[in-house]
Amino acid sequence: MDKPPKKSLSWHGTPLTRRSVLAGAAAVGAFLIVDFGAVAYANNWIAGGRRLTRADFIDLFRAVSGNHPGFRKNHAKGVAVTGYFDSNGDGCALSKAVVFAAGRTPVSGRFSLSGGDPDAADTAGAARGLGLAFAFPDGSQWRTAMINLPVFPDNSPQGFYDRTLASKPVPSTGQPDPAAMSAFLAAHPETKAAMAIIKTQPPTKGFADSTFRSLNTFFFVDDAGTRTPVRWSFVPQQDAAPPKTGEPDMLFDALIRQMQTGPLQWKLVLTVGTPDDPVTDPTLPWPGDRRTVDAGTLTLTTIEADQPGNARDINFDPLVLPEGIEPSDDPLLSARSAVYAASYRARTSEPQSPATVQVNEVTS
Ligand code: HEM
Repeated sequence: MDKPPKKSLSWHGTPLTRRSVLAGAAAVGAFLIVDFGAVAYANNWIAGGRRLTRADFIDLFRAVSGNHPGFRKNHAKGVAVTGYFDSNGDGCALSKAVVFAAGRTPVSGRFSLSGGDPDAADTAGAARGLGLAFAFPDGSQWRTAMINLPVFPDNSPQGFYDRTLASKPVPSTGQPDPAAMSAFLAAHPETKAAMAIIKTQPPTKGFADSTFRSLNTFFFVDDAGTRTPVRWSFVPQQDAAPPKTGEPDMLFDALIRQMQTGPLQWKLVLTVGTPDDPVTDPTLPWPGDRRTVDAGTLTLTTIEADQPGNARDINFDPLVLPEGIEPSDDPLLSARSAVYAASYRARTSEPQSPATVQVNEVTS
């Protein structure tokens, strides 16, 4: 079978080596803090009501998970990966984005678990994250941060804030206060309904057999300017090695061991919405019979500890989009962009410590 043509690669006009992708990504992340988050949130307010700011979210994560200088304020525990995306060209009918033209695009990514404590032991219940950053020859980029849930538990920044606060463990039990969580759920029927859906789809064995979903809706724009609502998923093409129960890093260690034996692959599946489908509320699933387009295959070939120069230094801001993919009016998207920038700014200006998951220490 013919290999897809290699797209010529550069980042901001300079020849692309692995090192330059990563250095470029770090530089671009810093750029976004100044120009992107700040423009979108000049007044710093994220939601109406009691005027939630991005600083409130950073304080929230520190209050709930402790202060961990140098680490992401959420999804603190993770590993960096690299690989490439082979587009088969079928996404072009929906979007003019260069990523969908047939060919290969290099990718930097990061697997993570939700939560702000980088030393927390892995649990099956923590949301599994996959951030991906695609670099295109024209200097544009696509970044996405996805999780393995079927729907998101919240449909507003306030909901996310209140749920995170209600999940704070009580020192005497190490568990969230059941009364705080019931009060939160009583006030947030959308989260109650989303949790019921999430319960019907328990997590798989590990990262390698997880489907990672955008959950938020985006609009794909084709050459004629037609806008189509899309939610995307990366669907695993392999089974996962079983985690060794009792290992504190059981999910990451199983992923590392599996990648030591060869690359892992996911198909990029685009789910096409209809005009009646909800586009601003990620707690609401779309009907299961929606048309899907298989747009190509992601292959991940390398895995490293979070460290300077790799995906540790990328801000997987969901609003960094190439021409041909546009955000919906989902209020979570703009809040995420602002808070990720604040988290990036905080963690890059704090003292750095080595990552918890050290890939080289994992042996079979
Ligand atoms: C208002 C809602 C949300 C808030 C406040 C929030 C907050 C954050 C923060 C502060 C980070 C760390 C960013 C950094 O330092 O680079 C983060 C990472 C992440 N978030 Fe969210 N998040 C929200 C919603 C979501 C949703 C809807 C998804 C998935 C669909 C998601 C998936 C992820 C993933 C995968 C990461 C880790 C990315 C990486 O490895 O850098 N988040 N989030």
